[in-house]
Amino acid sequence: MKLLLIISLILAVAIGTQARVNNDFNNCPEYFYRAHVPSGFQGIAKSDLFDRKKLPDGINVNDLSSPAYICQTFDGSNRFATLYDRGRRMPLYSAYIMDVKASESEKNCKRVNTFRVEPQLAYRGVTENMELVTDAKSGLQKYNWDKKIGERKEENRPMYLLRTSQALDYDYGNTTYDRGHLNPCGHHTVSRDEYKATFTLTNAVPMLPEINQVWSVYENEMINMLTDQKEEIYVITGIVPGNVPIKEGGLSAPTHVWNAYCHVDKNGKPKGVGAALVQNTMGSKIGKFNNIGDFQKKLQDLLGVINIELFSNGCKPEK
Ligand SMILES: *[C@@H]1O[C@H](CO)[C@@H](O)[C@H](O)[C@H]1NC(C)=O
Repeated sequence: MKLLLIISLILAVAIGTQARVNNDFNNCPEYFYRAHVPSGFQGIAKSDLFDRKKLPDGINVNDLSSPAYICQTFDGSNRFATLYDRGRRMPLYSAYIMDVKASESEKNCKRVNTFRVEPQLAYRGVTENMELVTDAKSGLQKYNWDKKIGERKEENRPMYLLRTSQALDYDYGNTTYDRGHLNPCGHHTVSRDEYKATFTLTNAVPMLPEINQVWSVYENEMINMLTDQKEEIYVITGIVPGNVPIKEGGLSAPTHVWNAYCHVDKNGKPKGVGAALVQNTMGSKIGKFNNIGDFQKKLQDLLGVINIELFSNGCKPEK
């Protein structure tokens, strides 16, 4: 009996769908320097938007905790990590490893403009991959069919599940805001799936086109830091949430966008650390920080939290 249980557990892990949306980042620690998940962000997220009196039949309420920890998966593999605020339907940050040299970068990222969604923010039991809306809809429909969940109830329908669990293109329609990448395509070699994987709405926030432009100039400057492909630059890009909706009943634009990086040499030793911050308002300029402690204090003030630690040991060389 026990043996059977163990065998079926092993099988479930080996062949079953792996939840990539979870309550921690244990399935993708590789995107954080020395596997240190930034502290201080846990309390910022708002609770999910599902109506408890009309909870979809396929949803387990324990799977709705906010923030959601997304191991961003494309074509079956991890590509980066996102801390997702279900209530705001927006990422609080994305963490990734920059993998591009200046000669291989494509500054404008025009090759892909369809954004994907995260089916597991609706049902944990569906594909681990980010998908186009049409595919995500059929996946949710198939799940309902398999589990005999009726779609006569509006809240069991795929589109209700998707739009209540995350932002969709519709949320950006008729607004003056861009779908601004946190993990930018420009920090990944064009031929890699890491590049394509950045085009997912759980990695996007409403950014004024002007600020998106200012920010991308800074992102392009960062590319020049990577001189040797064996080095690594761990980057965390996040927001300070705002509360002015970009259209009625919709997403609120963040007040700020920020990032911090930890640059390690080919032996894994830190060789540089820094951060930047910009306000998401017309005419704003980028502020840069060479001291990560100063930046963390600034971020704590803006977010109204304590104990923000972005990198293991502040990305200082270990003694
Ligand atoms: C944009 O506005 C038009 C006209 O009011 C409306 O028909 C359309 O549904 C809106 N689209 C979005 C994405 O909000």
